[in-house]
Amino acid sequence: MHESPHSPHTPLNAVPRTAPAGTPLARHRPALRSLHRASAMLLAVFIAAHVLGHLAGVAGAAAHQVVLEALRGIYRQPVVEAVLLGCVVFQGGSGLTLLWRGRRQRQGGVAWLQAVSGAYLALFLLIHVAAVLAARQQGVDTNLQFAAAGLHTPPQQWFFAPYYFLAVFALCAHVGCALYWNLRDGQRAPALAMALAVGVLLAGTLVAMLAGFFSA
Ligand code: HEM
Ligand code: HEM
Repeated sequence: MHESPHSPHTPLNAVPRTAPAGTPLARHRPALRSLHRASAMLLAVFIAAHVLGHLAGVAGAAAHQVVLEALRGIYRQPVVEAVLLGCVVFQGGSGLTLLWRGRRQRQGGVAWLQAVSGAYLALFLLIHVAAVLAARQQGVDTNLQFAAAGLHTPPQQWFFAPYYFLAVFALCAHVGCALYWNLRDGQRAPALAMALAVGVLLAGTLVAMLAGFFSA
């Protein structure tokens, strides 16, 4: 998994990731990547609460609803939701721009994992947020039952199970790659491996929960 410091992640306008071994790469970060990262920090607060909050569904739909209502109390405030959705749009736009700009220089497994996971996140977020907002517009409560419906409507489970699994896995992989670039030698490969392992576990648990495996 280790890559040469000249390798993958030098995509932006010849700003190289040429830090000597052991030097954090953060100082070599061009502007758009920094903005993508800053917006990710804001978004991460919502996403962590959102994705981990779904784990409450393991204890049943009622428990999930309690957590959802509590979180909605924060992110459905108009200003907060406007900032959140703005960050989602910016994250996708900046991410896709980074993806395109880096197309010629991208080398190595980690850079490709970051690119592919980012591309999937962009696709997922487009479908996911549009579906949620459209349903809300029609007065639907976009709760656990809404999210799980596809997994209980054959043959749609063949779409929705990989759709959700890959979303959670891609998120963990994408953040794992970011850790990889920003940690020191010796910490980076274990951090990425841990992120991938957490991704598989979390994604598997959430899809199993949505599919009703934990229901009595
Ligand atoms: C929505 C679609 C997304 C796309 C297309 C995307 C794409 C990318 C790409 C291509 C890179 C590498 C940048 C480079 O090579 O210079 C990157 C880096 C990164 N992404 Fe994303 N991304 C997306 C979403 C996210 C999300 C949801 C998060 C976290 C909540 C995130 C966090 C990061 C971080 C922290 C980095 C590393 C920045 C650094 O080098 O320090 N991205 N992303
Ligand atoms: C198993 C995985 C997931 C499930 C079951 C799920 C489910 C849901 C549900 C039910 C809502 C509506 C919430 C509400 O009514 O307040 C929602 C909204 C949303 N989700 Fe997810 N989600 C998942 C993963 C993700 C991931 C990985 C991301 C980001 C990378 C994400 C981003 C969002 C965003 C931005 C909203 C819109 C929030 C709003 O303004 O209402 N979700 N999701």
